Amino acid sequence: MKQDNILIIGAGGQIGAVLTEALRDVYGDDHVVASDLKPLDNQSGPTEVLNALDGEALEAIVKKWRINQIYHLAAILSATGEKDPMWAWNINMTSLFNVLEIARQRSLNKVYYPSSIAVFGQEAHHQNTPQYEVLIPETVYGISKVAGENWANYYYRRYGVDVRSVRYPGIIGYQSMPGGGTTDYAVEIYHYAIQQKNFECFLRADTRLPMLYMPDAIRGTLELMEAPANRLSVRTSYNLAGMSFTPEEVAESIRKLMPNFKISYKPDFRQAIADSWPASIDDSAARHDWNWRPEYDLDAMTKDMLHHLAMT
Ligand code: SER
Repeated sequence: MKQDNILIIGAGGQIGAVLTEALRDVYGDDHVVASDLKPLDNQSGPTEVLNALDGEALEAIVKKWRINQIYHLAAILSATGEKDPMWAWNINMTSLFNVLEIARQRSLNKVYYPSSIAVFGQEAHHQNTPQYEVLIPETVYGISKVAGENWANYYYRRYGVDVRSVRYPGIIGYQSMPGGGTTDYAVEIYHYAIQQKNFECFLRADTRLPMLYMPDAIRGTLELMEAPANRLSVRTSYNLAGMSFTPEEVAESIRKLMPNFKISYKPDFRQAIADSWPASIDDSAARHDWNWRPEYDLDAMTKDMLHHLAMT
């Protein structure tokens, strides 16, 4: 077991919940402090209630647990952010500055800060979107992630803070539900399928988006954080790809195992967000620098998702 002490901010969220467990497997339950706005239950290690907008509260927790790594996963996502842009901007940026400042002031070992495919907008290449691409996002979430990536890079170059980041595509997992994103349909659809309910999709049938299965996302995150610092050429955020599919294709994949599954379509405001995002991502920098390789394709993920959801 490694003896770093890790704080996870947003440990109750879709990725945070699973990442907390994975980090506890590596570092030991007592060395991974799970924090969120609301009290967390069913935890195998220490927890804290933390509002990441409160820099003093963050500092107190970092001191109390002798934290030397922070995973900052709390954020307002693309769809929710559009309902109140200033609120979303304030939460996403203030919390990041609190984390970067504490990391600088207390010389923490490492910080993890996820970015997103939401950094890309209409002007970006839609297919195989490159690592270094024009970044003109359409959502306040995307704007905050572009700014956040640049602040991460700034803190690395100016202060030597070892901030690492990937641009997650839509993340799909059976363990937790997403909250307020444009790719959320790709998780919900499996829950409807397993309950034998018809699913009404808020995106058009042919909306192709980059996606990643949770085990790949978690493994990729841990691999990036473990990689030797001198191998990392990208200090904004790495493109990361797993698979790309449309709602119709995921419905088709489900039907291979559940032939009666039915989907209908009623696009809402999230369609415009999805249309501004890439259909597929070029992640060759991550492949080259830290040997990133996804394992799951759509059908392998569908089988695993339905298997696990059937047991819960
Ligand atoms: N899943 C996120 C969203 O849809 C993308 O980072 O907002």
